Amino acid sequence: MTDQARGLRELMKEQRKAKAPLRVIGVASGKGGVGKTNVASNLAALVARAGHRVLIIDGDLGLANVEIVYGLKPRFHLGHLLSGEADIKDVLVDGPHGVRLLPAGNGVQALSRLDESQQLRLLTALDALEDEFDFVFLDAGAGIGDNVLFFIGAAQEALLVVSPEPTSLTDAYATVKVLCQSAGVRHFDVVVNQAPSEAIARDIFDRLLAVASRFLDARMRMLGWVPRDENVHRAVMAQRPLIDAFPTSPATRALNAVVDNLLHEPPPAQLDGGLKLLWNRLLRDSKAA
Ligand SMILES: Nc1ncnc2c1ncn2[C@@H]1O[C@H](COP(=O)(O)OP(=O)(O)O)[C@@H](O)[C@H]1O
Ligand SMILES: [Mg+2]
Repeated sequence: MTDQARGLRELMKEQRKAKAPLRVIGVASGKGGVGKTNVASNLAALVARAGHRVLIIDGDLGLANVEIVYGLKPRFHLGHLLSGEADIKDVLVDGPHGVRLLPAGNGVQALSRLDESQQLRLLTALDALEDEFDFVFLDAGAGIGDNVLFFIGAAQEALLVVSPEPTSLTDAYATVKVLCQSAGVRHFDVVVNQAPSEAIARDIFDRLLAVASRFLDARMRMLGWVPRDENVHRAVMAQRPLIDAFPTSPATRALNAVVDNLLHEPPPAQLDGGLKLLWNRLLRDSKAA
């Protein structure tokens, strides 16, 4: 490449960055079953529908993973990428509205035990993706297992999904505490899911905020709330994304409001970084483990 061409490329890269800095959002919850995967998958699809380039990485090995919510049956997953059986372009699949999915398979477990050639493969693959996305969502597993710390600790933004079930709040607080104290997460965007009413959703948030601000060095903001809505379950059963299967349902409307807030009010003091930094941190942590 000539110096001029290189200069031009750098300039274009800078301009693209100036337009849309990459946001890496780790989605966490206290216990499982609060609706984290459904919220993350539909938010990612809505952000894509709004015209952004979105990647969702499935780091949840639970049953209803992202591919099921999207109604996809991917041929390859992260494990194939790491073993060299598939290229990143074979592994990423198209979800609704152009959102791209990196399916988990058993790859998430493998992520914490990479040999050097796998590390190189992953870094090379993801390095090439950095400029291709505006948003990366990470659906981390439930609770505070290693995978969750691994993913959320490396992301720039933590989005916490809680539900009004009595144990959800205690579990959510435990998750916030560990993410804050062990993974250095200082800001949490909270979505209260499966709430019977807005008043209850706000009350849940206020209680979480009260303990967090009293005992932890963490800020918290209510990004929105999603009502309990049978259509969420119906969409999963129909293997169609909720936002497409039931576009006017209460849950879809609420998710749209969450996306509005997410897009128009990025969290304060956004970290610098992006995908490369994320993966470098992941690899550093996996080496340290
Ligand atoms: N807003 C909601 N209203 C009703 N049911 C919901 C809602 N969100 C999620 N669910 C249901 O809760 C169950 C768990 O959802 P899921 O997204 O898999 O949770 P998680 O990822 O937290 O384990 C699913 O059966 C899903 O259909
Ligand atoms: Mg899940």
